[in-house]
Amino acid sequence: MSHFKPKPMMAKYQGPLLGELTVPGDKSISHRALILGALSIGVTKITGLLEAQDVLNTARVLTSLGAVARKTPRGWEVVGRGVSGLSAPDGPLDFGNSGTGVRLMMGVLSGHPFEVKLKGDASLSRRPMGRVLRPLRQMGLEVVACSGAQQERQRTGLADENSAETLPLKLRGLIEPIPITYTLPVPSAQVKSAVLLAGLHAPGTTTIIEPVPTRDHTERMLGYFGARLSVSPENGGTRIALLGQPELSGRRVVVPADPSSAAFLVAGAVIVPGSDVTITNVLMNKTRFGFYETLMEMGADLTFINKREEAGEPIADIMARASTLKAVLVPPERAPSMIDEYPVLAVVAAFAQGVTRMEGLCELRVKESDRLSATVAGLLANGVEADVNGDSLIVHGTGGKVAGGGVVETHLDHRMAMAFLTMGLASEKAVGVDDVSMIATSFPEFQSLISDLGGALNRLNMPGQAKSNRVRNGSE
Ligand code: S3P
Repeated sequence: MSHFKPKPMMAKYQGPLLGELTVPGDKSISHRALILGALSIGVTKITGLLEAQDVLNTARVLTSLGAVARKTPRGWEVVGRGVSGLSAPDGPLDFGNSGTGVRLMMGVLSGHPFEVKLKGDASLSRRPMGRVLRPLRQMGLEVVACSGAQQERQRTGLADENSAETLPLKLRGLIEPIPITYTLPVPSAQVKSAVLLAGLHAPGTTTIIEPVPTRDHTERMLGYFGARLSVSPENGGTRIALLGQPELSGRRVVVPADPSSAAFLVAGAVIVPGSDVTITNVLMNKTRFGFYETLMEMGADLTFINKREEAGEPIADIMARASTLKAVLVPPERAPSMIDEYPVLAVVAAFAQGVTRMEGLCELRVKESDRLSATVAGLLANGVEADVNGDSLIVHGTGGKVAGGGVVETHLDHRMAMAFLTMGLASEKAVGVDDVSMIATSFPEFQSLISDLGGALNRLNMPGQAKSNRVRNGSE
């Protein structure tokens, strides 16, 4: 039996959000800084590392594989073991809720000749791993054991992208994985990164062809740590070629603020009347910019100041003010650059005038929850008309007056919790969420930063099931 105890919470309107602050470090860059630090010779010093459960799990996993990742008075440091230098752990590696952590580490483990068991929480154990295992198997990774049903799929050759290969899994890598050329069948930076991290150990060139660009932090950071790789355009997409077995050297990494976390505060600023919020040091990489681009198309009052570069990544301060918003069509090719921001964009769209249509969202079904259906359910519970049509999400904007009053089921998904709490800051009645504990996986400071800006978050007492609950404005 699970001892997991959900923590319900509600948000209500209490006046404008005002102030200047920064949000914690970028999650994607934090994972990669720890991993490449562990595969380098020497010490990597990281400032601004995101100290949230997902990243701390990666740090713990790397330490159990022999690379010391620890907090120091000035930040974090990783004592690396070099490419292929990790050693077998004493027990299973637990990745908690983190899809990025486990999928990137599957790539790393493909280049290490020992057996290891990987596991995660209930949400992660439902997510597809076949998309990563397929190219890694081509490189020589052996899936030693998984559940009975999964073993049967493997035996009959059905173990592929569409099969339900899920954690827990037992894997065995090899000293020299086979370099491959792989065209990404899904636009996933996690799959791309897993193959590149396996390719680091391979004798020869591993090539990825990416028909649609996805976040490029792995490529940037590999170059920064001393790997030889080339990135060139190919038929509207990208070809990435990595020469294996380089010597990586420990570096200093400054992690910029996470644009996916900043998105909740920026969304709050544009939907809560009278708000004026500045968020400093935010990563502005164009492979992550889709949410901000879309908000500007909707008429949001955003200004980007102090544009500069740090550790190979562009950053800026974002000024966001309350805005009159109009509906837009969000094209499918934009999805990879804002994949984690759709739930909160749907919340913003609920306050806009007109019908917003977001296309090409099949990947949302395999995130920490099925975010397509969870988002629609959350909107409906709060008086906003919404629908899924194929892979499109359709939100009927209210022109500014969202009723609220519902309690949203978050399905162990941090971004569902934060998106709907953001809605409650601007809706007519309070909005409840059934559980905020998962927010700690990516943005532990969320509640306190909302309070610093003047937003009202309160505990919610939930006698029954989330679905049937309604919250009264101002009640707890
Ligand atoms: C991430 C990639 C994205 C994103 C996730 C972080 C990464 O997943 O949803 O939160 O750091 O590579 P996919 O690449 O699978 O879309």
